[in-house]
Parts: sequence; structure tokens; C-alpha cells
Amino acid sequence: MSIYQQRIEQITRMLDEQSLLGMLLFPSPNMYYLTGFQSHPGERLFLVVIPAEGTPFFIAPQMFGAHIKGESWIEEIILWGDDDDPYEVLLNVLTEKGLTKGAFAVDDTMWAVQLLNMMNILPEAKFVQLGDLMSTLRLRKSADEIAKILDSGKIVDEIVGVIHQVAKPGMSEMEIVAIMEQEMKKRGASGPSFPTIVATGPNAALPHHSTGERRIQEGEFLLMDFGALYKGYCSDTTRTLCLGQPSEKMRQVHNIVREAQEIGVQIVRPGIKACEVDQAVRQYIANKGYGEYYTHRTGHGLGLEVHEEPFITGVSESILEAGMVFSIEPGIYIEGEFGVRIEDIVVVTDNGCQRVNNSPHELMIIDI
Ligand code: CO
Repeated sequence: MSIYQQRIEQITRMLDEQSLLGMLLFPSPNMYYLTGFQSHPGERLFLVVIPAEGTPFFIAPQMFGAHIKGESWIEEIILWGDDDDPYEVLLNVLTEKGLTKGAFAVDDTMWAVQLLNMMNILPEAKFVQLGDLMSTLRLRKSADEIAKILDSGKIVDEIVGVIHQVAKPGMSEMEIVAIMEQEMKKRGASGPSFPTIVATGPNAALPHHSTGERRIQEGEFLLMDFGALYKGYCSDTTRTLCLGQPSEKMRQVHNIVREAQEIGVQIVRPGIKACEVDQAVRQYIANKGYGEYYTHRTGHGLGLEVHEEPFITGVSESILEAGMVFSIEPGIYIEGEFGVRIEDIVVVTDNGCQRVNNSPHELMIIDI
């Protein structure tokens, strides 16, 4: 039995326990996780229906028939052409299978237009959120998933090294992004796992700066926060380099963030709560006098998606378990001056954690 079939078995058991009729997934990481088929969402109706009882089936645009057959283990594929009304096709299939009365769990990222159309044709059905149905499964990664995340992490670590070598005064943020994304693809990644962030000088004080045309100058920080998508799995890392020599304050702040990040990594082990990691990191930064400059949570889970559970916040009671994967990424942002963030992904092991990212944590100086 394939890993996908095993996962569907677990899901149908949970659907049954929760008295749900079935699950409706849209092209999404969830669809990939359960079927092996990966595609981008679009306006055409494209579903995998997983009934609590019976076998799963696709309802998909005709043009995807061969693609689904090649990638997924699911045998029943109902195709509709561009001249058909897909909702009529869907209604007929669901009626035939007795799946029109009851509650369906719906993919979180399904487009509203599709959900609204389904609500229209299925007046006796209820549609509910996935809740913990998928996250329960996706939270703990298998050895195979961890191997892919490690490979994805290795790609981005190498790119930190490349930028350390090639960045020069006068280069724009966009030029640096172009190099990073080309280097990812050379290493087999299908692309970035989210829009690459390069922030220079005062832009680094904006945690999610939109990369632009600003050109880096001597004595400024170059903050790069980026990830690759490799065999369906994400990486995510942040390093803050300096072009030439930093000021004393820049050096100090970088050191505080580095130490805070290290404290976060050291505390991780199975059995502690996610909030304990956040609190330890936050407390350290506060003790150094920069508490008000740390404006976001300490981390987020990562896998098929770049942000998924568990979230490492000050209030999360989630208990860490071996196989969970998440970021530890404290930052200090001084508006109008500069910002520093250091981020590694870690995998929780039986007695601690393993870092996915291993590029240097010490301040890397770019020679000019
Ligand atoms: Co991150």
C-alpha cells in the first residue's frame, strides 16, 4: 500500500469518527499529500472527493486526465470538458453515489466561487472547515519528508554562500533576488517556496519588506529571507550579512539575535510547549533591552507549505513531538536604521532537535 493510500485510510477513519460524509479537496498541498497529484488552483472546478465510506475520486478538467493518471494512485477520474457545466457533472456524480446529504469538510484554500457554487447545487449538504483533520497527519513528518526538507535546506544554505561571494555595493535588491532564484533552479529546485525577500539598509527594519530597486551601500546590512521548493517540500532561512564593516550597534544587535536564536534551538525537545520556545527567545531579547523591537512570533511549521502548524507563539499550548518541523527566527527591527533576523528550520528529534540550516550564524562580512 502506498504512503498516499495509508494517509487516506487514516483520513477516512477520522471522517467517520467525526460523522462527516466526506472531504472535498482543491488543488493544494492537501491534495498532493493524499493523492500524489500536484497542480495549481485555477478557475476550473477541480476536486478530489474522499468519502468517509467508499473510494476517493477526482472530478477534473479533461485536459488534466493524463496528468492525474500519471501521478496519482486514485483510479476513478471523472473528467469534464470546457463546454460542460462542471457543477452539473458534480451533482450527477454525487447523487449517483448518495453523497448529497451530510457534512463535507472543505479544503481551507478552496476558492469562494467554487464553494458558493457547490452550496447552491447541494442545498442539503453542509460544508465545514477541515479543522484538525489534515494538520493531525501533516504535523509529524515521515523520514522521507524530512529527507526532502533537509535537501531543500541544503540548497538555500549554499545560496547564502553564493551571495556572500558575489554581492557588491550598488547592486539592487532585485538583482540579488534574481541571482538567488537562478541558483535555486540550477540546484534542482522548482522555484522559491515564497517570494524571496532581500532587504538592504533601513529596509531590513521591515520584517516582510517587499523587495525593490534599492541599491546596497557599504556599511549596510543585507537581510535575505528565502526558501526553495524542492520535490514538493519547502525550505526557509534568513541570514543578515553586512556589506563591509558594520557599526558597533549593528554588531551588538546581530549578536543578540544570534544568541536568542541559539537559545531557541537549544530549548527544543519533545514534551515542551511551543510557547516555551517563544518565551525563552523573547525573554532573552527583552533582557538585552530590545523587547519592543521584536514584533513577531518566533516561528512557524514548514513542510509542503512554508507556513503551517505548529506555530511558535507566546500562547501556543501545542506540545512538541519528534518529527515536527518549524522555524526559529527572532529579529530586532529598528525603524529607519536597520534590522536583523536569523532563521533556521529545525526538526524535533527524540531528545532535542536537528538544524536543517547550517550556513554561518556569526555575522558574515561581504568583502568590498
Ligand atoms: Co520563516
